Amino acid sequence: MPLVIGVPKETAAGEKRVATVPEVVEKLVKLGFSVAVQSGAGEAANFSDDTYRAAGAEVIGEAAALWARADIVFKVRAPLTEEVGLLREGATLISFIAPAQNPELMQQLAARKVTVLAIDCLPRTLSRAQKMDALTSMAGVAGYRAVIEAANAFGRFFNGQVTAAGKIPPAKVFIAGAGVAGLAAIGAAAGLGAIVRANDTRAEVADQVVSLGGEFVKVDYEEEGSGGGGYAKVMSEGFQKAQREMYAKQAREVDIIITTALIPGKPAPKLITAEMVASMRPGSVIVDMAAEQGGNCELTEPGRVAVKHGVTIVGYTDLVSRMAKQSSTLYATNLFRLTEELCKTKDGVINVNMEDEAIRGLTVIREGAITWPPPPPKAPPAPPQQAKPAVAAPAAKSSHGHGAGAPMAAGTLAITFAVAAALFALIGAYAPESFLIHFTVFVLACFIGYMVIWNVTPSLHTPLMSVTNAISSIICIGALVQIAPPEVAGSGRADALIRWMAVAGIALTAINMFGGFAVTRRMLAMFRK
Ligand code: NAI
Repeated sequence: MPLVIGVPKETAAGEKRVATVPEVVEKLVKLGFSVAVQSGAGEAANFSDDTYRAAGAEVIGEAAALWARADIVFKVRAPLTEEVGLLREGATLISFIAPAQNPELMQQLAARKVTVLAIDCLPRTLSRAQKMDALTSMAGVAGYRAVIEAANAFGRFFNGQVTAAGKIPPAKVFIAGAGVAGLAAIGAAAGLGAIVRANDTRAEVADQVVSLGGEFVKVDYEEEGSGGGGYAKVMSEGFQKAQREMYAKQAREVDIIITTALIPGKPAPKLITAEMVASMRPGSVIVDMAAEQGGNCELTEPGRVAVKHGVTIVGYTDLVSRMAKQSSTLYATNLFRLTEELCKTKDGVINVNMEDEAIRGLTVIREGAITWPPPPPKAPPAPPQQAKPAVAAPAAKSSHGHGAGAPMAAGTLAITFAVAAALFALIGAYAPESFLIHFTVFVLACFIGYMVIWNVTPSLHTPLMSVTNAISSIICIGALVQIAPPEVAGSGRADALIRWMAVAGIALTAINMFGGFAVTRRMLAMFRK
């Protein structure tokens, strides 16, 4: 008998998401399950009952009837007490739970003798589990929406523009905390054309910030901020002081601050003080994504927009729900991927395999027994012992002044130099003098050209080429010499022809010269913000 997946309408105030969408219903049916959806469950996310029906779901009017029918319940928010009472004995619940914050709920659920998979307890560092990582997909949506909220409250363009009415500078956005939400915000703000800077206590995220189009702003203080598992730790007093100074400077410079700094299980660090808010230009915006955990800004009012010192501070705690269609689709896909893992046999029956590290992490209650917290993850196998080479390498370094492998490279270099020197000596001894002059200029030109281009970033190669194009118009000098007046260059017909050819030559090289510089200017302007 295939199991029935039941999807009730979310009851939490303001929650617009739904745990599955019609597109995913079809896939669940293909896995062998029956799907029942409460009438109106998808309405706030723009999914009508009819679209669920068309996808193969049964639509049930009453909540109680739906819960009674469901073998597996898909939910977004943790169930309320009255919903727990509706769960069938032996059923499975998959939803956000936050077991550490909700011990009472855990007891209530255990008393119902159900199995509970808390989607927020998925071990996030397992790459295999990423497809089921609803925390990540929701934070990504929230980060994007935070930028949209900022753009909405901000009275200017994000991108710089040159219009007939004048030049508009791009907006400057500073993002505090480059976790999942922060990185999504960096990508969205950079995509809108703003100058984006970001800071995080975990130095390892700097590359990710840059790859998304942001600039990583470092705190001038040496301390590692990683607390393991991809999360941060509380920083020392010295670090916090240096960080406050840097944040104060950024607050004076930027137009928009989006804060996402969070340490799991701790109140949000207060990074933006009231004085920093007062130092921002009027019309600036702060979006405090950590509002629910107390906020990263001292003046945030959770759940609402406040204007303080002329700065709009957005403290919405429902950013994900404000993009209900998108977030429901992502969440539904995360739950579908999890269902695939639970139902490898594709016959509409699930197997909660506690041997699987991802499933073990998620399972907080198993048939009425609380199984949370899971045992700590197994340590990775120790790397094979490489004691001997590790000792040998520094010895080689001290005796030769190079790392392992370097003497070989140095040898090749020496041979190349010796051959080149012998070749030059040979040319010097036998070649005619005129050749030697040109040859020396040629070698020097190659060397200088190589040195000039070598340190230029590849993205600047095109403007560099256009400028060298302009410089190559030095051949113009040849034409200038030929254009000399008749008393110098002669007045025969052939001389006149040469003169006119020189005029044409000058005209053509002028295009090359001025065109080259003009193109270079335009291309460099593209890199200037
Ligand atoms: P995350 O844990 O992936 O990222 C938090 C980042 O903050 C980490 O990279 C951490 O290193 C950094 N951080 C911690 N302390 C810091 C400090 N003192 N200075 C600079 N960086 C620091 O968390 P995620 O998923 O990106 O969520 C970020 C925030 O957004 C959380 O507060 C979360 O609750 C909130 N959120 C809000 C939503 C809303 O509707 N308002 C929706 C989803 C998430």
